[in-house]
Amino acid sequence: MHNAAFAALGLDWVYVPFPVDAADLGTAVAAVRALGLAGINVTVPHKQAVLAHCDALTPLARRVGAVNTIVNRAGHLLGDNTDVHGFAQTLREARLHLRGRHAVVIGAGGAARAVLAALAESGAARITLANRTPARARALARRRRGVRIDVVPLATLAGAATLAEAALVVNTTSAALSGADFPPLAYAATPPGCLFADLLYNHPTAFLAAARQARRRTIDGGAMLLHQGARAFTLWTGRRAPIAVMRQALQ
Ligand code: ATR
Repeated sequence: MHNAAFAALGLDWVYVPFPVDAADLGTAVAAVRALGLAGINVTVPHKQAVLAHCDALTPLARRVGAVNTIVNRAGHLLGDNTDVHGFAQTLREARLHLRGRHAVVIGAGGAARAVLAALAESGAARITLANRTPARARALARRRRGVRIDVVPLATLAGAATLAEAALVVNTTSAALSGADFPPLAYAATPPGCLFADLLYNHPTAFLAAARQARRRTIDGGAMLLHQGARAFTLWTGRRAPIAVMRQALQ
């Protein structure tokens, strides 16, 4: 999508993937400076470890505790996080208004961090954070101020009570990628207007299939991917991102 956007704006730029081992992360980031690259995206599993290799962080990246975009300003590497914008924009496109309402987040890994940051700014009255390992969710919940977060074991969502007022249920876990079974949730206990969102894209998940079966609205991670990329494009190039071109390229 970035190469399509560069072409559409007549920019002689290119976006290429570099698989990097964890042991080489510092050297890889230093190469951005040495090679004079305009910037990079950073993805799984380096989004948290890369913080230590940036020259500075935006307040948002520091708050989230994860960097997915680095901008090279004359050799000074600024770590930012555009995943938060990507998820917030996904909710806007879905016309989901969370002010005063209840959101449920499943998972407490790196992906959950950006979702929680976006939800904290959405005006949601409360968030329930459900994770297979509750201790990990508690550690994550302690980092967030300004919004009430209740932590529950994932198995709690099999009962109706926790989901009865949910306006949004987000799956941030990697369960579907490892082919693991997803635990049973009380999908039909949610209000009929509840939106089920998964961060994975181009990958059918048991979570969204079950939500559809319960006749609930669903959305995958495609919109988040698009909008985090559009924000990164603007940070690097200083140009407005051609969203339609990027969306088309993704499809
Ligand atoms: P990411 O950075 O992509 O979020 P991660 O940090 O490894 O990846 O986090 C993965 C998340 O998916 C965790 O919340 C993990 O639960 P645990 O904290 O209990 O490990 C969750 N997860 C992975 N496989 C799962 C499964 N089969 N069932 C339920 N949760 C799962």
